Amino acid sequence: MPVEHFFVRSHLGTPSIERDQWKLTVEGKVRRPREWTWSQLKEMEQESRTVTLECAENLPGGSLVGNAQWRGVPLARLLEEAGVVEDAREAVLEGADRGLDELEMVPVTYARSLPLDEAMTAGTLVALEMNGQPLTPEHGFPARVIVPGWYGMAHVKWLTRVRVSAEPFRGFYMAKRYFTARRHPNTGEPVITPVTRMGVKSRIDSPVEGQTLSPGSHVVRGRAWAGCRTVERVEVSSDGGRSWTPARLQDTPAPCTWVRWSHTWEPPRTGAYALQVRAFDDRGETQPLQQDLGRINRYDNRWLHTVRCAVKH
Ligand code: MTE
Repeated sequence: MPVEHFFVRSHLGTPSIERDQWKLTVEGKVRRPREWTWSQLKEMEQESRTVTLECAENLPGGSLVGNAQWRGVPLARLLEEAGVVEDAREAVLEGADRGLDELEMVPVTYARSLPLDEAMTAGTLVALEMNGQPLTPEHGFPARVIVPGWYGMAHVKWLTRVRVSAEPFRGFYMAKRYFTARRHPNTGEPVITPVTRMGVKSRIDSPVEGQTLSPGSHVVRGRAWAGCRTVERVEVSSDGGRSWTPARLQDTPAPCTWVRWSHTWEPPRTGAYALQVRAFDDRGETQPLQQDLGRINRYDNRWLHTVRCAVKH
């Protein structure tokens, strides 16, 4: 997806950073705290990954999802050079952006922690490039984290500090955002679940909501993704979910990346239709049919995308 079409989601605005003034610090539970300049990172061996990034707030059919090629240095290499100590559990990733939170108007810094094994996994990158170009300011220049398969909030932009820690981090964007809660059916107590990895999800790109189509055959198309699982199959319904037909996958499914799908649809008669799509991953997992209304917070919104359209002469 071209950078100019890729969604931007920033809680605190875009900080302005001079590349040559910027450095990345790795400290905390490490034997050799270290700093890297942008040029030093650029001189290290780089790796590329194609990764679909979706904001945990994205609603079915919403535009807060994109796919890009990211290039940079594995975070594991930096942590290895710094020498993580035995009792370390998490890496707290800190951005350069600070300000007042959009809703609560309290001063905050954007920071998120990752379990250490996730920070050390081969795919987790400190990315310097997006689609073959240096990151743009909006997407995190000079460097951002890419955590394949995790929702967008984990992909910290304007990365300035990695603090290795033995205790769970309870910063604002961990404690106050990015969890779902529902009442326990017996006790009524809230059960809190942090938002982490993406699940399987799909969307219809064409037709669009409210579109009028002429009678005859139409190509329904869209995309499906499954975090770091692989999309196994996609099905389309034109009768509000009573019957399902397999769609054709246009890309070879690969982990961490969306696939485009299409389906040739011949509406049997004129009238109103509700088109729906559902995807399955390689474990056979699929999407919830409907929104879970018992849940507090709208994150991880994977219920089916429905597009209502009319077929008319
Ligand atoms: N990193 C920082 N430093 N500040 C932010 O506000 N937003 C996060 C994440 N990284 C954010 C951040 C969220 S919620 C998402 S969905 C992704 O960045 C969006 O990345 P993009 O703007 O490059 O699409």
